[in-house]
Amino acid sequence: MRPRAREDERGISPSGREGDTLPAVAEILMGVTGGIAAYKSLDVLRILQRHGHGVSVVMTHTAERFVGSASFAALSGREVGTHLFGDAGQPGYHHLDVTGGKDLMLIAPASANTMSQMATGAANSLLTSCYLAFRGPVVVAPAMNTAMWLHPATARTIETLRADGVHLVDPDTGLLADGAVGPGRLAEPAVIVAAVEAALAGTAAVKDMAGVRVLISAGGTREPIDAVRYVGNHSSGRMGWALAAAAYDRGAEVVVVQANVDLPRQPGIRYVNAPTAREMRDACRAEFTSSDLLLMCAAVADYRPVAAAGGKMDKAEAESLTVALERTTDILAELAALRDDQVLIGFAVEHGPDGLGRARAKRDRKAVDIVVHNDAAVAGAAFGGPDNIITIIGPGEAEIALPRMSKRACAEHILDAARPLVPARTVSA
Ligand SMILES: Cc1cc2nc3c(=O)[nH]c(=O)nc-3n(C[C@H](O)[C@H](O)[C@H](O)COP(=O)(O)O)c2cc1C
Repeated sequence: MRPRAREDERGISPSGREGDTLPAVAEILMGVTGGIAAYKSLDVLRILQRHGHGVSVVMTHTAERFVGSASFAALSGREVGTHLFGDAGQPGYHHLDVTGGKDLMLIAPASANTMSQMATGAANSLLTSCYLAFRGPVVVAPAMNTAMWLHPATARTIETLRADGVHLVDPDTGLLADGAVGPGRLAEPAVIVAAVEAALAGTAAVKDMAGVRVLISAGGTREPIDAVRYVGNHSSGRMGWALAAAAYDRGAEVVVVQANVDLPRQPGIRYVNAPTAREMRDACRAEFTSSDLLLMCAAVADYRPVAAAGGKMDKAEAESLTVALERTTDILAELAALRDDQVLIGFAVEHGPDGLGRARAKRDRKAVDIVVHNDAAVAGAAFGGPDNIITIIGPGEAEIALPRMSKRACAEHILDAARPLVPARTVSA
């Protein structure tokens, strides 16, 4: 597989947006496996090329039964690797030659079979050998029928791949090739490319946040009613965790003030526990002065019980119960008033059609640089899941409405918007 000269470099960044200063071109190794959606990888390849990336393709033998390698060879302008060993008139490819010089490996579509091989470390095809030999970021876009996707074996595979650091682009829910409607359809090509570019932005080559001190609040606070009950919310902390991982990968020094998040912690990131609104406020204030960028992602209770009962209230005591609530401190507004030259980003989970307007108003009212809006009424944009659908409001008049994508991909877009605002002095610190 010949590395193509970067003659088609057009000054377009990996994100494809004008004005970005990220490197213009990445070399991508794209794996295609055996499923109905294999034909859609041709679209993925075209979009990657339009964004200035060089793409080399490896296919499994089964993938070739769905789409001929000649199509990928013609579009990529490169030979397509299918065999580890030359036989039956096919040239063999050494997996180390194939992975050499590549910035990222993408597998789209990824079959249940290939993913399970990846999860166990089996390497009996050119594609899976490349996966094991490759040391850069890996993006995987699964596609299969709903029964296969929902099978516990596939769930175990996905969990293992995530734990191994693979960037998963979750399949869409929709009409599948077998006529059924459910989860398993390959994500839209544009969404896959966005995930690739988000992962590229986190590669070692792009440490554009080196020296930047980032403070992230994550999770949801719980306000005690008594010793065992609380007023809380559904926040899982996944968005804050994704922001922390993205900022860390881009070289930032990251502190996460977290409320009740039950997710694995990442070495290199500092975590401060703050389970209630009061503790969240105290911890954020303490960390804020030494920060350059605040991402206030936690769902902090707006109200808390005026006084938590001591011990556990006995339900026999009363037929009904009224709990008096009092306002908590608006942490973001308070920190905005205290700011030196910190960049402030707020999050507005709103419900319903007027939400975007309320989020815009929130940015102005709280005097923050950017507000990230999502609509809790929209499927796929709610609490807890792996994906989000966000609109980035600001800085200034800028407003970017993004399609559904992984929280990690959202995090990269948010950091892309915030990075130019962070004072330059911190970059060389
Ligand atoms: C018509 C047809 C469609 C298939 N579609 C899928 C699919 O969408 N996803 C999947 O995981 N497997 C699918 N399979 C099964 C895989 O092709 C099979 O598991 C194969 O071993 C995968 O090989 P590979 O992972 O080496 O590409 C399909 C099989 C057939 C015959």
